[in-house]
Amino acid sequence: MVTREQVIEALRDVKDPEVGRSIVELDMVPSVEIEGGKVTVDVLLTIRGCPLSNVIEREIRERLSQLEGVTEIEVRVGHMTDEQRAQFAAKVRGMGRANAEAQQAELPPILREQGRQFLAIASGKGGVGKSTVTANLAVALARKGYRVALIDADIYGFSIPVIFGIEGVKPATIEDLIMPVQAEGVKIMSMQFFVPENTPVVWRGPMLGKTLRSFFGQVHWGDVDIVLLDLPPGTGDVALDVHTLLPQSKQLIVTTPQAAAAEVAVRAGLMGVRTNHQVIGVVENMAYFVCDSCGETAYLFGRGGGERVAAALNTTLLAEIPIANQEKERAGIFSAESLHGQVFAKLADRVAEAMGLAQNRELRA
Ligand SMILES: Nc1ncnc2c1ncn2[C@@H]1O[C@H](COP(=O)(O)OP(=O)(O)OP(=O)(O)O)[C@@H](O)[C@H]1O
Ligand SMILES: [Mg+2]
Repeated sequence: MVTREQVIEALRDVKDPEVGRSIVELDMVPSVEIEGGKVTVDVLLTIRGCPLSNVIEREIRERLSQLEGVTEIEVRVGHMTDEQRAQFAAKVRGMGRANAEAQQAELPPILREQGRQFLAIASGKGGVGKSTVTANLAVALARKGYRVALIDADIYGFSIPVIFGIEGVKPATIEDLIMPVQAEGVKIMSMQFFVPENTPVVWRGPMLGKTLRSFFGQVHWGDVDIVLLDLPPGTGDVALDVHTLLPQSKQLIVTTPQAAAAEVAVRAGLMGVRTNHQVIGVVENMAYFVCDSCGETAYLFGRGGGERVAAALNTTLLAEIPIANQEKERAGIFSAESLHGQVFAKLADRVAEAMGLAQNRELRA
């Protein structure tokens, strides 16, 4: 006959998909009853109508059915009281803290964990495709198996949710813990999720840093290999905040072939260099157009902008992204098979190499 201990041990492998921790550790299993071959498990979910309820129940059934002697499984789903939920949130926060090093205790959790890399994506001029490049690079890295977080730090323009098609989504919250929204395998946080529709946001200087800080501190990111940050264009407050908050972050510069864009891109890059942030490379977006019918390549906006920026910043041109035919394919997230998907896959390899991610993954395996 199966024992209570065996059941608990098996349930230990079931994780809360949002928090990424064992449901047993999280006190989500208040009771287990065994009658002959029948096992009845109570699970407590944080919120009523939790969309993850099916996932958790399926996992429980899967694990328990592998135990010898189990002939019937009943999963009873209940919901936490306010008090239980508060304890749950405290526990999740505590687990993050337990991993942290004591002397770094005052830093937000996302900054404390070792081995996590930060890459800020910057451009001088607006509209060069920085957000499009950031989003597609994030997805390309996720497709390669890296655990990727994406912070839309462009709190004036927030276009990341639109690119992913998740504008309407509200992130789940547990007490004051915020769960990132997952799309295309990427964990995403954007101010857009918190702003009522059609309300222009008027930010005052100090608010920017505060918002960023809470994105780092209040959001439960879980295990992540790399955090990409979509910065607002230019070299304003947010870029400075990010430099101060993330002294170890690296930079990727996005530009277009035109001389004007390249010139400002160099300025954005130099600011990073001056504050001691390594520029891992340059991406030239809208570099060329491939004609659908004749297959010929046309350099509609001229050539050489990316190379010039890379040379001025003493770094390399990592990718040239073609111009997408917006009539055919909205420049959102490109499919893995498309020309753009393939270009971004190559860029992801080069970024992973420059950031030492592959090494991380080997250590993890
Ligand atoms: N390679 C591309 N081919 C065609 N269109 C593109 C390409 N990259 C970006 N775009 C389009 O250009 C516009 C600007 O792109 P995006 O929002 O990514 O730029 P940005 O630099 O983040 O802009 P902002 O300064 O507003 O933050 C969007 O409409 C986007 O769809
Ligand atoms: Mg943008």
